[in-house]
Amino acid sequence: MARDDISEFGDVFEPQEAQEPILARGVRAALQEWLEEIWAETELAAVGITARKRAIFDGKPGVGKTTLAHHLAARLGLPMVAVRPERVISKYVGETGQNIGRMFDLASNEDDPIVLFIDEFDALSRQRRRGEQASDDERNEEVNTLLQRIEQHKGFIIAATNYGAHIDQAIWRRFDIHLTLELPGQRERELITARYLAPFGLPAAALRSIAESLDTASPALIRKLCEGLKRQFILGPKLGYDMSREATIARTLATIHPHPDVGKPRLWSLGERDSAVRALPWPIPLADEISASAPASAREPAANVVRLR
Ligand SMILES: Nc1ncnc2c1ncn2[C@@H]1O[C@H](COP(=O)(O)OP(=O)(O)OP(=O)(O)O)[C@@H](O)[C@H]1O
Ligand SMILES: [Mg+2]
Repeated sequence: MARDDISEFGDVFEPQEAQEPILARGVRAALQEWLEEIWAETELAAVGITARKRAIFDGKPGVGKTTLAHHLAARLGLPMVAVRPERVISKYVGETGQNIGRMFDLASNEDDPIVLFIDEFDALSRQRRRGEQASDDERNEEVNTLLQRIEQHKGFIIAATNYGAHIDQAIWRRFDIHLTLELPGQRERELITARYLAPFGLPAAALRSIAESLDTASPALIRKLCEGLKRQFILGPKLGYDMSREATIARTLATIHPHPDVGKPRLWSLGERDSAVRALPWPIPLADEISASAPASAREPAANVVRLR
């Protein structure tokens, strides 16, 4: 089956494994618009237009480009094949162009439609250069092949990049949707923290202040922090570790390194001395226990307790 063959160039992501990303309102609206357009394909065809099928997601590492593409594919009921450029790019003359051709041939099987997700797209589609060296000519040839194949391809293509500016302009123009995924804002950071901390939970004020200390953190970093903490909660006592708030936070932060491209959130600069750490209830309760156990006077209104959706 074509899907098995194409795994030579990448990994298959099944629809049932997708997770819904927490997105800023603007991105969510753009996504919904695109989905409506795809679902209305027949009606659009009746008035002579086609639904857009090619998108570029641009954004820093860990902002959710792959997660969003996978979620989209799942909403379309399609598997996604995430192509890895290192499996396409070859050091042998002419072979990269051939691989690009073969990859698109395999992705074009109409009996077995997929969403073709090309990760690190800048690696395949760098700006063409005026051929001063033989290697430039070869590179330009590859970009031309890519351009043609993208244009001919009838299925969905989503390309992801951390460096939109490096992509050849002619290729960039062949994509009809350009979506920049920004780092999450305060509201999204609260929701992301609550999701990955579950089944533990925080009262609204503590959640707000920890999310503030995570300004400039990517969703991936927030996820790592929450999962690191949960790992400490379970394993720390078995290992005889100091489970005080300060020691637990310090150990967790020490094992997680923010990506240099994204910058260091305040929590990593101040560590266990951060005011947000002092505002954490300790031990961190289960989400279900928050409103049930607090005295009525201290109880947060239920709507303020953000839970796993
Ligand atoms: N918007 C989001 N909501 C919830 N979780 C997210 C979101 N974005 C990313 N994550 C989580 O962060 C992790 C990394 O996300 P993902 O791989 O999609 O990022 P990426 O932008 O593709 O990164 P890279 O540039 O490194 O490929 C995943 O485990 C995912 O579950
Ligand atoms: Mg990715």
